[in-house]
Amino acid sequence: MTNSQAVLTQVRANKRSLRAGLLRWFDHVKRDLPWRRTQDPYAIWLSEIMLQQTQVDRVVPYFERFLARFPTVKDLARAPLDEVLAEWKGLGYYSRARNLHAAAKTIVAEHRAKLPADHAALLALPGFGRYTAGAVASIAFGLKTPLVDGNVARVFARLFVIEGAAGDTQRDELLWSVAERLVEGERPGDFNQALMELGATVCIPNTAPLCLLCPLAKQCGALHAGRVTELPAPKKAAARKSLALAVAVARRKSSVLLARRVDTGLFGGLWELPSTELGADGAASLTGLLGARAKVGAELEVVERTLTHRDLTLHLFPVTLPEKLTAPPAGYTDWRWFEPAEVEGLGISSATRAALDVA
Ligand code: ADE
Repeated sequence: MTNSQAVLTQVRANKRSLRAGLLRWFDHVKRDLPWRRTQDPYAIWLSEIMLQQTQVDRVVPYFERFLARFPTVKDLARAPLDEVLAEWKGLGYYSRARNLHAAAKTIVAEHRAKLPADHAALLALPGFGRYTAGAVASIAFGLKTPLVDGNVARVFARLFVIEGAAGDTQRDELLWSVAERLVEGERPGDFNQALMELGATVCIPNTAPLCLLCPLAKQCGALHAGRVTELPAPKKAAARKSLALAVAVARRKSSVLLARRVDTGLFGGLWELPSTELGADGAASLTGLLGARAKVGAELEVVERTLTHRDLTLHLFPVTLPEKLTAPPAGYTDWRWFEPAEVEGLGISSATRAALDVA
């Protein structure tokens, strides 16, 4: 028997007692949250979008303000996107708000302004992935649709001793299979919320899960095996990329030349020493970036920086340029000479800061 089969066999054997224990616990301890006092699918949908990447406590005031401003799907669909984004300010991940707005328009145009009570139709809406469709279908419409978020994944990994880390496809599919089997039964919306609530309040990450308070302690494989803090396995760090840059250090009297990156990509929108990917000949790389008016000297210094996903090596070259600048180089929206005091007030990356300190 494969490990997955063993897990699913265990799920079948424990399903009744797990479901009963979890629902009873949820009925006693569930937090009183505004989206739990409504049956309105639109409000439930809104809460699920806001709760992605944002903590419950922070969501509550945004949720209430947003609903006061856009009380129905129609109101949201009619509003200009800028107003929707303004209400979202502070929550971050603005693509969530853009998708919410786009989905509201689709719901008005194609579903007579009501969220469809159908898993496949929900999945087809902008911003609805497997998680959101499962949450809205079960919580708002009482459909037996599974969901797995980070909290649920942790609960299952411990309960059924599921090895592997987030992003491991086989493991993630197994978690969804477990959720699919367990959600079959009464009160699927409460059951899904109970799983998430357990993960958020009791079966918490790392060092101090509150197993004494857990309604499922008796059935928990990790607790019996003394492996609660080992499971789930930490996510593997993304492979780091190396990036080598040729960096222009151009000074005039006391000022230094900085350029502002285009808004997208690494260091988007930040001011920095003009740079480009290092070719076989670093000086030639910079002439390519800055044009023939730039006189590039011999390499001054090498600075190494470690970023979250990248190892960055900056090769610094002295550059002489005429005071009057032409159009900014490729990849930049602006460039200017700055006095040292002005540089302090700019948004600059720590890599640029390190380069300015040595060159
Ligand atoms: N996290 C996201 N949605 C949730 C919900 N409805 N209940 C508990 N935790 C959640």
